[in-house]
Amino acid sequence: MLDEIARVQEDLEAEIAGAHTQESLEQIRIKFLGKKGRLTTLMRSLGGVPAEERPQVGQKLNKLKKRAEQLLAEKQEAIKSSAIAARWDAERIDVTLPGFPFAMGRRHPLQVVLLEIEEIFSSMGFKIAEGPDIEYDYYNFEALNIPREHPARDMQDSYYISSDILLRTHTSPVQIRTMEAMQGELPVRIIAPGKVYRRDDDVTHSPMFHQVEGLAVDKHISMADLKGTLLLFVREMFGGDREIRLRPSFFPFTEPSAEVDISCIICDGRGCRVCSETGWLEILGSGMVHPRVLEMSGYDPKEVTGYAFGMGVERIAMLKYGIDDIRLFYHNDLRMLEQY
Ligand code: DAH
Repeated sequence: MLDEIARVQEDLEAEIAGAHTQESLEQIRIKFLGKKGRLTTLMRSLGGVPAEERPQVGQKLNKLKKRAEQLLAEKQEAIKSSAIAARWDAERIDVTLPGFPFAMGRRHPLQVVLLEIEEIFSSMGFKIAEGPDIEYDYYNFEALNIPREHPARDMQDSYYISSDILLRTHTSPVQIRTMEAMQGELPVRIIAPGKVYRRDDDVTHSPMFHQVEGLAVDKHISMADLKGTLLLFVREMFGGDREIRLRPSFFPFTEPSAEVDISCIICDGRGCRVCSETGWLEILGSGMVHPRVLEMSGYDPKEVTGYAFGMGVERIAMLKYGIDDIRLFYHNDLRMLEQY
């Protein structure tokens, strides 16, 4: 019996020492301490041991059982913590490794130019106004003195949602919306940036493009105010030595109307390919707000006057950066976009 106890102890210790998983440890526990386990069986047979040896054998068995439980518990702890350690090793982060390069976003060149335009006019006291891209025929045309069947509509065909609603063809409707909202209050001094839509598509025209509208209405506003304001803008935008030139033109919502040119930024006015040898580049349309437009918007043309202008943001960006194809703005080619 004592020999058997010694053998069980030896086997038990060896097997526990060789166990590396919780599962194998559980198998060992069943093998020795389970209902039919070797140690359990020995304890059951204690009754057959001669009475005088029984206390000594019983004591040995109890000691062995305690030891077995202790060894199992210790091993269980050891396996648990080595599993945690292994996970730590596997998941360790080496903070000294170089990072992954992260692609930084940047502003689109049109956005850069738009913000610059907004900044220049804000510094002159203009507020920023907005209107909807989907506009009523009334604001886009009627209230701008372009009645139905007026030939000026031919140059501004657009997508019609219904006979009265279309994708706006210019930012000029924001003039009307602003004056309506201000209900005759003075002064009106706003710029209105935004997207506009036309049935146009070639190297210099896109079906969607951006404009910035300008409007100033007050007592005693004259063409000289328009010219001074635009000269300041052009010099801020394109450089201090730029000149401007106003050419007579026609817009139904201004009278008189003028196209505004700047001295060519490529050749400084001497004449080159970009300015078609004229020395001038056209950058915007403008004029004195037509009395009928003022009237329709709730202002009395006998009391107040105003000027208005509208410029294409793409056109300004193309001139400023020397880009010769408007479609480059929309191809989303990073090799192009990253240059600005
Ligand atoms: N709305 C005109 C266009 O898109 C541009 C324009 C011309 C706006 C003269 C104005 C203006 O405010 O006075 O072609």
